[in-house]
Amino acid sequence: MKFFVDTAEIDQIKELHALGMVDGVTTNPSLIAKSGRDILEVTKEICDIVDGPVSAEVVALDADTMLAEGRKLAKIADNIAVKVPLTWAGLQTCKALSDEGTMVNVTLCFSANQALLAAKAGATFISPFIGRLDDINLDGLELIEDIRTIYDNYGFETQILAASIRSANHMSGCAKIGADVATAPPAVIKNMANHVLTDKGLAGFMADVEKAGIKIL
Ligand code: G3P
Repeated sequence: MKFFVDTAEIDQIKELHALGMVDGVTTNPSLIAKSGRDILEVTKEICDIVDGPVSAEVVALDADTMLAEGRKLAKIADNIAVKVPLTWAGLQTCKALSDEGTMVNVTLCFSANQALLAAKAGATFISPFIGRLDDINLDGLELIEDIRTIYDNYGFETQILAASIRSANHMSGCAKIGADVATAPPAVIKNMANHVLTDKGLAGFMADVEKAGIKIL
């Protein structure tokens, strides 16, 4: 499973990138707003750091303006994936941009039917928001499973990019199901390293190091 990092914070991207943890980056208007940066400027900076796909989202609601915005975003770098919402206008934009050879990430997906439409419209990535489904007592991981089944049934090449990931369990859950990509905030990726038994075991080793005066350097 590829790891994308869901942030527009340059320092955090650089830290994870240095560890080989960043196969791509996703942003959205909320993350751009949080960064306080200009969308074109910060997106270009991210593309200079990361070789993999960098998602940048349109902000218009109608297809013509979305398409113009998408074309402008696509010019930032070769690794831009234009992100469009899963609306009818978003699907029209997805088809037009895909036909032009631009990667498209269709976002705000909450159902298997929406994912099926995105694949038919030529999406490179579909972004099901699993955390937001869990928030309303539905099962986000079940949606990932359903989309995996549907895409595999028909050989769709659209990649499942699990998004709105809130926990380390979401990451392993997506990997078990076979999501192609998971995009997560940096804190969630770092939290995957944590285990209470690791901490306990290390404390025990350190106590013995102290007792025996073990030194290596
Ligand atoms: O990748 C989508 C993500 O940014 C949304 O996450 O936590 O706001 O639902 P969240």
